[in-house]
Amino acid sequence: MIKVDNLSFSFPQKELYNNISFTFEEAQHCAFIGTSGSGKSTLIDILMDPERYLFDGKLEIDPTCRIGYVSQFSQVDKTKEMTVFEYIGEEFIKIQDEITAIYAEMATTSDMDSLLEKVQLALDAFVAMDGDNFENIINKQLNLANLMKLKDLNISELSGGEFKLIQVMKEMLNRPDLMIMDEPDVFLDFENLNALKKLINSHKGILLVVTHNRYLLNHCFNKI
Ligand SMILES: Nc1ncnc2c1ncn2[C@@H]1O[C@H](COP(=O)(O)OP(=O)(O)O)[C@@H](O)[C@H]1O
Ligand SMILES: [Mg+2]
Repeated sequence: MIKVDNLSFSFPQKELYNNISFTFEEAQHCAFIGTSGSGKSTLIDILMDPERYLFDGKLEIDPTCRIGYVSQFSQVDKTKEMTVFEYIGEEFIKIQDEITAIYAEMATTSDMDSLLEKVQLALDAFVAMDGDNFENIINKQLNLANLMKLKDLNISELSGGEFKLIQVMKEMLNRPDLMIMDEPDVFLDFENLNALKKLINSHKGILLVVTHNRYLLNHCFNKI
């Protein structure tokens, strides 16, 4: 599904990789370790946006491959007025609102054909996300991570660790073909770390996690 073949890349002041090769396959959960500054975050960036980098070697990624990503430096946006439930379900709610808006427009339109086409696209996307079940799906994830208590809180009330877990859930719910997390464990206490372990182990798709955490390395992953 994703194949890296003899990749070499350097910044002007620093050589990062010299002819590295690896592959990610279906349902593989891969941990990615390396000393600080060795270029882990940069490698992730190359995978997500290869056009921005001048590298040697070959990178094969299926053009339909959708990537979910939780950044190393993500932080709660304190200005956002949104509950945890609304945040995790943002994509579902957006499509739902779009469908409602198109139906409303149909009442007054002179161009029914194009609206019918639009609503069909939106409905297809909604079904593909299992939209009718989205509240159940979110509840299931929150229960798994033992975070049901957060569901109706505003996201600005969360701790850094809680927000990280909520972000992981949100990205996972969009069912990416490749899910990438860059050092997600750094600010987690043990309880939240355990929740992260459960989320990782319940995820069905390909997963790439940058981590040095012993506990995660011992309890997750089939490739390091
Ligand atoms: N845009 C950039 N330009 C030049 N050097 C960079 C840039 N981004 C990162 N680096 C350097 O590349 C090295 C690897 O960075 P990074 O990929 O963030 O490492 P890691 O995530 O493994 O800690 C570091 O020495 C960093 O200073
Ligand atoms: Mg990094």
